[in-house]
Amino acid sequence: MSKTFDIGISALAGPGEFAQANVDSAPPLSNGKSFFIETFGCQMNVHDAEKVAGVFLARGYRAAQSIAEADVMLYNTCSIREKAAQKVFSRLGAWRGIADGKIIGVIGCLAQQEGEDIFERAPWVSLVCGSASYRKLPQMVAELEAGGRRLMGLDLDTDETFETEITRRDNPLRAYVTIIEGCDYSCSYCVVPHTRGPERSRPSDAVLSEARRLADAGYTEIQLLGQTVNSYRDPSARTLSFVELLREVASVAGIRRVRFTTSHPNDFHREIVDAIDATPVLCDHIHLPVQSGSTRVLGAMRRTYTREEYLEKIAWIRAARRLISVTTDIIVGFPGETENDFEQSVTLLDAVGYDGVYAFTYSPRPNTTASTMPDAIPEEEKYRRLAVLQDRQRQIQIERNNKLVGSAFELLVDTHHSARGQWAGRSTSNLIVNFTSPLQNLLGEYVQARVTRAAPFSLVGEQVI
Ligand code: 5AD
Ligand code: SF4
Repeated sequence: MSKTFDIGISALAGPGEFAQANVDSAPPLSNGKSFFIETFGCQMNVHDAEKVAGVFLARGYRAAQSIAEADVMLYNTCSIREKAAQKVFSRLGAWRGIADGKIIGVIGCLAQQEGEDIFERAPWVSLVCGSASYRKLPQMVAELEAGGRRLMGLDLDTDETFETEITRRDNPLRAYVTIIEGCDYSCSYCVVPHTRGPERSRPSDAVLSEARRLADAGYTEIQLLGQTVNSYRDPSARTLSFVELLREVASVAGIRRVRFTTSHPNDFHREIVDAIDATPVLCDHIHLPVQSGSTRVLGAMRRTYTREEYLEKIAWIRAARRLISVTTDIIVGFPGETENDFEQSVTLLDAVGYDGVYAFTYSPRPNTTASTMPDAIPEEEKYRRLAVLQDRQRQIQIERNNKLVGSAFELLVDTHHSARGQWAGRSTSNLIVNFTSPLQNLLGEYVQARVTRAAPFSLVGEQVI
């Protein structure tokens, strides 16, 4: 199949579906103005930016090629850890010199967290809006155009989701689709419930019609998104379960791969494994953040499961007929984490045999209960633990990757490293393989490649023709 890359803008109008979006469904007319969005953070943030871009396109703006030329500059922020939050004010400082005559907005998690204080610290900002208020953006943009200053959208008390008429998709191969927003858990270290608000699921029909339109636009891979994606509860009369929704999205004609992230262990049921086993379109990869291998620390984190209960879920995955890859998130240096607690996180790596681990040092966050807990771990000790954990995982990945030499995988090609004469693509289990091929124009194609060489974080191979 040949594939073009000009489907970055997909009109996603559907009957009744965008009732909250205060924009016309007619094709946008140019108003001569342009916008630029700079995004940090998770995939939810990346996809939010695609939808926010749609709000501006629908109002007649065009996407600027650089910040300097934009009339509206938006900074889509993250506040999951202190470092991400610190970056924001230094970046806003850098924008000060070019702020004259422009609209500058701060959106996303730090906007929600800092609220009005942003205007104090950066008076050249005129819009502060958290993600739970994005549905009000069209109206806020209209007020800014009419000369409004200092508009805030910080309402967290909502049962609505953010739907747009147009979504400007930046990834031409993998389309993100939100199925649930916010989070109803209250992990003691996490700002997300405070910045993204309560859990809200989208009606299943809205998700499915978006999936069909994406397939019509040429997409073959869909990634369903949610902070706790598997807590999905269909608010419509159909009341589909998460697994039923997975199966229906997977049956949309033209869709070859369906991924979903992030799963919460508490809502991870055996039916999800059964669905993956029975449905080749559902990718054989599960991201299942554990956060700690110590039941004591998990309790202090309010994760709602023990090490043993987590391992039981891993056992279901290992019992599947398909080989399903498993990745996770781990926090080291949580307040009061003893050497023994930490050891249990390290031994969990071996007990599970993860295909990938995202490890973080604990970072105290505002309004979280963990931020006032005693027995903080010194920063150097956190980094020592991080290095020990990452070193053990590196060994596990070397062993795993060495075993893959000689195996062939179907890859969706997403990168061309022209200087190296290599292509790169992902397998359904989310492995990245860099490979050589005698063929041209492979971007967007599905190809078979055999692994010839392995390193801890990469695989090298050649196309099987
Ligand atoms: N400190 C360090 N890491 C954190 N995460 C969430 N909150 C914190 C924090 N306060 C990590 C968790 C989560 C991932 C997205 O970020 O591991 O799964
Ligand atoms: Fe944060 Fe926990 Fe919700 Fe994940 S489940 S977003 S870690 S509060």
